[in-house]
Amino acid sequence: MITKKQVIEGLEMVLVPGVMRSVVKMNLVRNVNIADGKIDIALASAALAPGTQDWLKEKIKDATGKLAGVSEVSVSFVDGKPKDLNEIDNVIAVMSGKGGVGKSLVASLAAVAFTRCGYEVGILDADITGPSIPKMFGIVDRPGGSDTGMLPVTSRLGIEIMSINLLLPSEDDAVIWRGPLIGRAITQFWEEVLWGKLDYLVVDLPPGTADAPLIVMQSLPISGVLIVFTPQDLTAMVVRKAINMARQMGKPILGVVENMSYLYIPEIDKKVELFGKSRGNEMAKAAHAPLLGQLPIDPELAKLCDEGNIERYDSEIMNQLVESLSQVLIPHEVGKHD
Ligand SMILES: Nc1ncnc2c1ncn2[C@@H]1O[C@H](COP(=O)(O)OP(=O)(O)OP(=O)(O)O)[C@@H](O)[C@H]1O
Ligand SMILES: [Mg+2]
Repeated sequence: MITKKQVIEGLEMVLVPGVMRSVVKMNLVRNVNIADGKIDIALASAALAPGTQDWLKEKIKDATGKLAGVSEVSVSFVDGKPKDLNEIDNVIAVMSGKGGVGKSLVASLAAVAFTRCGYEVGILDADITGPSIPKMFGIVDRPGGSDTGMLPVTSRLGIEIMSINLLLPSEDDAVIWRGPLIGRAITQFWEEVLWGKLDYLVVDLPPGTADAPLIVMQSLPISGVLIVFTPQDLTAMVVRKAINMARQMGKPILGVVENMSYLYIPEIDKKVELFGKSRGNEMAKAAHAPLLGQLPIDPELAKLCDEGNIERYDSEIMNQLVESLSQVLIPHEVGKHD
């Protein structure tokens, strides 16, 4: 007797081209029916180009047809929209109010650390006019898709990424858009991208408290906000605005992260506070949230970002940060997305 479990295990081997995640993890499997050795599998067609559908059909027949006792496999496609298929347990927005403090860096490192813990992770780059995520991950591939949606691009470690930079003809092209169009792009990244099943989606926000952060807060089911800052006077003032904004929008602040907290000089075994005294505890108090980490200025990290190799950076501080976050933002069913 063939079981549904066996069929699903077979389908877990079938990867969606471009995303390189299985049809199961992309939540495309809509129905599996088994009767007298005959298997009928219905897959959602969302974001799958006709050529991709044909390719998947063959791969699925190969993967399940060889199970003992199977006489026939038929694969059909049914309509489905990405937003109806996406099952994202937690959405974390990374914000600051201030530019250049390391939001994209913290968003990326958090996604990397979550992935290393075995979670399924995506990054939505909501910085439409200054996207930097693809560069940090060294991603140049264009997203696949069809007229029913887009597929994210997967990083080397397996993080799903969607950014406006991946859609532009050239990565140096400027996006000169006004608020409403930016808002439209962000909501499209949420509703029309097939993310599939994810434990964590990290949203990298642009600086400021204007249109884009507002749209993200209003239209995405944000589980919580991470606030990033550097130890400078001006930053502290602007960051308080971001804290107030998150609070006004009723979004819980998960914690604060101080970036460029100090520079460690190994020759003299000293930490130099280049940008002034740490404000970690002060900002944590202002946010009524824990200080989740203090990242040093690390020339090696800057180099890896420039080279598109951020995934090679292993930070104990970030590992501890995601450990704390995963205790507050628990995936709905532990191991569900394994
Ligand atoms: N702790 C750090 N050590 C070394 N380099 C860092 C560190 N934090 C950030 N950088 C470097 O500073 C630059 C700016 O960081 P990042 O892009 O993350 O800032 P941001 O807040 O997202 O900026 P924007 O407001 O433009 O979106 C990056 O190129 C990164 O390489
Ligand atoms: Mg950024």
